[in-house]
Amino acid sequence: MPRKVILDLDPGIDDAVALAMALFDPRLDVVAVTAGGGNVPPEQATANLQALVGILDPPRLPRLGVAPDDTVRPEKPFNMHGTDGLGGIDLPRARLHGGHVSEKVIWETIHAHPREVTIICLGPLTNLSRVLARDPAIVELIGEVVIAGGTAHGQGNATPVVDFNFYCDPPAARHVIREPMAKTLVPLETTGQVTFGFDLLDQLPPESSRAGRILRGMLPHALRAHRQILGREEICLHDVAALVAVTNPELFERVTVAADVETGGELTAGMLVIDRRTVRQWRPNLDILTSCDVAAVQDCILRGLAAAGAGT
Ligand code: RIB
Ligand code: CA
Repeated sequence: MPRKVILDLDPGIDDAVALAMALFDPRLDVVAVTAGGGNVPPEQATANLQALVGILDPPRLPRLGVAPDDTVRPEKPFNMHGTDGLGGIDLPRARLHGGHVSEKVIWETIHAHPREVTIICLGPLTNLSRVLARDPAIVELIGEVVIAGGTAHGQGNATPVVDFNFYCDPPAARHVIREPMAKTLVPLETTGQVTFGFDLLDQLPPESSRAGRILRGMLPHALRAHRQILGREEICLHDVAALVAVTNPELFERVTVAADVETGGELTAGMLVIDRRTVRQWRPNLDILTSCDVAAVQDCILRGLAAAGAGT
């Protein structure tokens, strides 16, 4: 049976790549996709998500959540995703369907499929935190939460010690990490191992496919942004590597830790703090994927992109 998943995302180029792969992966039943602000303002995230799903036209159309417009986004240190969030491809704004806010769609989907759904968080944790605040008992009904972001050793991207997703909403990150449900974190130190060079452009689905057109439109921007902003000749697709952690967990090393999230520090708000004391005082509450078989994950990604191309 395909695994029921919700993708909560802030598209963003890597979010969009993960979305395309997930929608055409026969191992996944994407029951809902929910937008949140982060890489782009909330309304842009919703527009991007609706346009992507409309163009990709997957065999099973997921429910769609609208990003809440009352979220406060911090100043971004730099923009890797372009003004539209998708590398400047400026997709036509197709109002696909629905109009329910993301936290409502997540809540309804979990209740429709108790204990069956994995929530894959590819953006700030605002939406999931709001679901938990609205209905604390729902922790009993969530199958698992897999989170892209956070840092295992404090090697951040948004700040020296914080990943962008936790940086955008530290209280939400703390709320989710503290909740007693099965949680797996795929931190920057792991997703950052999975890189691609300019030759990725030769390995994408053909322009004749809708997924190929979207990927070939977005990824050159990602490559340029990594070179011009980060001075790197390779790109990380953090959210895509996190998706592979769901489909192919055997490719990742897993440890269980006791962790919390700083919310007040001027320099550290959003930082994941792990209790590594010899005599640990905190209770274990989080699995972290500390490393992966990089070549195998890269291969999974290329095969997943090919499947998206073949399906469109
Ligand atoms: O830090 C990783 C996150 O930042 C990813 O979700 C990616 O979309 C970027 O915004
Ligand atoms: Ca993201």
